[in-house]
Amino acid sequence: MLHQNSDGPETTTAAAAATAPGTAEITLPETAVTEPEASGEQLTLPLVSPVTDAPTSAPATTAIPTTTQTPTTAVVPTTAAPTTTAAPTTAAPEQPTTTTTAAVETTAPPTTTAPVTTAPPETTALVQSPDGRSGSELDYPAVINGVILVNKTHWVSRNYAPVQAEYFEDRWKLAPEAWTAWEEMKAAAAEEGIYLVFTSGYRSYDYQAYLYDNYVRTHGQEQADRSSARPGRSEHQTGLALDITGDGVTFSEDLAETPVGKWLHANAWRFGWILRYPRGKEHITGYKFEPWHYRYVGKAVAADFGPNNTLTLEEYLGVD
Ligand code: DAL
Ligand code: ZN
Repeated sequence: MLHQNSDGPETTTAAAAATAPGTAEITLPETAVTEPEASGEQLTLPLVSPVTDAPTSAPATTAIPTTTQTPTTAVVPTTAAPTTTAAPTTAAPEQPTTTTTAAVETTAPPTTTAPVTTAPPETTALVQSPDGRSGSELDYPAVINGVILVNKTHWVSRNYAPVQAEYFEDRWKLAPEAWTAWEEMKAAAAEEGIYLVFTSGYRSYDYQAYLYDNYVRTHGQEQADRSSARPGRSEHQTGLALDITGDGVTFSEDLAETPVGKWLHANAWRFGWILRYPRGKEHITGYKFEPWHYRYVGKAVAADFGPNNTLTLEEYLGVD
């Protein structure tokens, strides 16, 4: 039986530069990675651009709730809602090497032409994050003891895009320090025969809204909220979160039992990453176990977590 927990419709720009043993680096395509939920059902989402991180099938404006708090005059970072796409022309669909789960990427065309945006109720009026911040204060993330925190209590606005988030290898977008740490970790893992796959990095507010809405539409809001962050609550918007998969397993709890999942849990801290949504901590994080979702916090903080940690960032920082 499969034990699939999804990162929500945390569909991602999935595609990876995966390196197989004894081979040169293989460039894999950007596809919409779907994250099935416990039923094993699989979302079908449109292909996404590796560059824009936006669904190609949806007009740039469709994923943007018209009722958001963003004033029409607001300067929206260009990274938040790109209007052009540049899908790779040479990429081939990513094929998991094994099928230990049903969580495989789909390259199927979308069955609908545009996502139906479910504007969260709180975006219809002055937005106030549960931590008390509101308005332009939300254009920046909360920082607790020097650590950026974005979660169900500490929100950011649509205007927040980490200006330092950059594209690497023309496709992967992360904050530079996180990218460096990713490369270091990936290389160290490869030396041990462990091949990590970059599956989702930075995501804009609008793209997160699109993913969340898809999840709600497919699985209902209750399930969606256990797996997918509402826009403004995903730390993927910080450029410091990274979904890492491998061994042919994507967004499934089964990843935890694979060499990749075990290696990550034991070693990611050495490179400044922590498992962000540990097993059994849903009552704290608000999300089901996500063995693929790692957060870059820097080596000093990650050292406090250590190997095989089940500590949450909320517990560590002593906040909700
Ligand atoms: N799946 C995590 C919680 C996210 O959507 O950011
Ligand atoms: Zn994630």
